[in-house]
Amino acid sequence: MIYLDNSATTKPYPEVIDVMKKTMENYYGNPSSLHRKGVEAESVLKQARSIVANALQCKPSEVIFTSGGTESNNTAIKGVAFQYQERGKHIITSQIEHPCVYDVCKQLESFSFEITYLPVNQDGQVSLEDLKAAIRPDTILVSIMHANNELGTVQPINQIGTYLKLFPKILFHVDAVQSFGKLPIRMKEWGIDLLSLSGHKFHGPRGIGVLAKRENLLLHPLLAGGGQEGGYRSGTENVPAIAGMAKAIRIYEEKRGKEITKLEALTKRIREGISDIPSLVINTPEKDTAPHIVNFSVPGMKAEVLLHALEDKGFLVSTRSACSTKSDEPSRILMATGMKRERALSAIRVSVGVENTLEEIEAFITALHECVKNIRPYMNV
Ligand SMILES: Cc1ncc(COP(=O)(O)O)c(C=O)c1O
Repeated sequence: MIYLDNSATTKPYPEVIDVMKKTMENYYGNPSSLHRKGVEAESVLKQARSIVANALQCKPSEVIFTSGGTESNNTAIKGVAFQYQERGKHIITSQIEHPCVYDVCKQLESFSFEITYLPVNQDGQVSLEDLKAAIRPDTILVSIMHANNELGTVQPINQIGTYLKLFPKILFHVDAVQSFGKLPIRMKEWGIDLLSLSGHKFHGPRGIGVLAKRENLLLHPLLAGGGQEGGYRSGTENVPAIAGMAKAIRIYEEKRGKEITKLEALTKRIREGISDIPSLVINTPEKDTAPHIVNFSVPGMKAEVLLHALEDKGFLVSTRSACSTKSDEPSRILMATGMKRERALSAIRVSVGVENTLEEIEAFITALHECVKNIRPYMNV
């Protein structure tokens, strides 16, 4: 099987598994314990925290370990909302955020917060002008993702953050779950106050993530308890997963650049190789795009049918055309770009990873041509 679903999750590096096993065997103490085993575990934690801080060019004290991207996003948005609600109850986000941002904002509406969901253009990108127009005296937070998980579109984070510097009371949160390790991120320079990462998207373990938080910024914690992670995230730290995630960051730093160039070459080849398939449209824009995602549609061809046909030929891709509850509803993100329903319902996302080879991509292109040719006679168009 050829795995082409790296946006959903990535295979952990063998070294990551190794580090986790060793940490579980040797550093099983609770980092809060005062005895030797506790101190040993705490030193692993400290080392991992400085690796993360170094990668994000922030201070170790600005790193909060969480259980993943979902928790980081919830902690950032609800944490700011409840901490700063006296200042105002208006939040700006976009129509194409991951559900762990979008649905959190929906939840906050029931706590009398007002949310502006910025529209996107046909490439899935928000505009700075729309953001400027949406800012109000009671705006406390702007939360915009870096790279979109379905289309790969990259948002103008630098411009947004630079503009928001004019409003020191408006905090800026960025969901960088899909972009970390694939695109440059400059927290300080781009004026980012809060940044979310998830270990399993860059060959680290699942169930571990980071919320980087600018110092002096307060958050109402989601989880109260033992006061770990500076009081922002209580609960005994998942030291093996934290060590594993730090290892994944180390590996990415060693290979920095080379892997991104490879991912770009693979997605470029996919784009070229599938462009002659009749009626196929590539949904991912050509520029301002993450290097690992190509989303395309063959309008009229049900995405699930094509996905399973590809699976039968040994290729694992994904479809985001259906949300989990209403199976005939097209993706909110694709519909936000103004795409026709039929095209959105047929969308397939291919996301490459560092283990994929050009030979695999050539085989995928051939398989896709064959699948589309075989399914087309059965389409009702
Ligand atoms: C953009 C984005 N944000 C957040 C998440 C959630 O991350 P996690 O799976 O670690 O909770 C995902 C996962 O698909 C994602 O793609």
